[in-house]
Amino acid sequence: MHTSTRSQKLVIANWKSNLNWKQTEDWISSFSRSKQHNHEYVICPPFPLLPAFRESGLTVGVQDLSPFEAGAYTGAVSPANLEGLGVKYAVLGHSERRIYFGETDQSVAQKVEIALAHDITPVVCVDRDGFQSQAAAFSQLNSAQRSQVVIAYEPVHAISTFGGHEDPIAVTLEAIAEARRVFDAHTVLYGGSVSPDNSLSYLQPSEIDGVLVGGASLDPEKFARL
Ligand code: PGA
Repeated sequence: MHTSTRSQKLVIANWKSNLNWKQTEDWISSFSRSKQHNHEYVICPPFPLLPAFRESGLTVGVQDLSPFEAGAYTGAVSPANLEGLGVKYAVLGHSERRIYFGETDQSVAQKVEIALAHDITPVVCVDRDGFQSQAAAFSQLNSAQRSQVVIAYEPVHAISTFGGHEDPIAVTLEAIAEARRVFDAHTVLYGGSVSPDNSLSYLQPSEIDGVLVGGASLDPEKFARL
């Protein structure tokens, strides 16, 4: 089993479908002023807001990706569409995508393949009861591909909009270890109601490589305090 080798924590903001262009410009200047830690930050805004980050010096990611290369796939955003926007990460298989948009383990695996083919690091979100089936869907990936996948362990009940019930840290650490084993993952994040009030419990343990943050990432000053 891999142990964590990262020197910096990976802290990813998932804005979901929030914020507009003006709010994004304000967010960028406020965050750049208030950043307090030496984490590796990645901001995942909605697609149309990506160009606002061009001169910001911040790393950006997307919240979904087409399972296909460029072509006749109405409504889908392919890696070709993202060229020049500096996209380094893609959050894939978030529980909201699975619940509201019918995302499956198989389509997540297809998207992982597309992302990796374009040097975009996939961040696959998965709850504990989905570990085995998602890992089984990755059998189509070779081991070099699998080793590049970041896993975000996200218990659905802990996500703020689904109730925000956090587990005791011991339970979280157990699940993180299980994710590392099942996916043979180098990098495993935690996500679910992370805020400046509880971020230390998730960012201090060496077993957790970072956090995926929804609600608290919309406020640049809060996000800067994580
Ligand atoms: P939350 O969202 O931080 O608002 O709970 C996390 C997520 O949905 O990734």
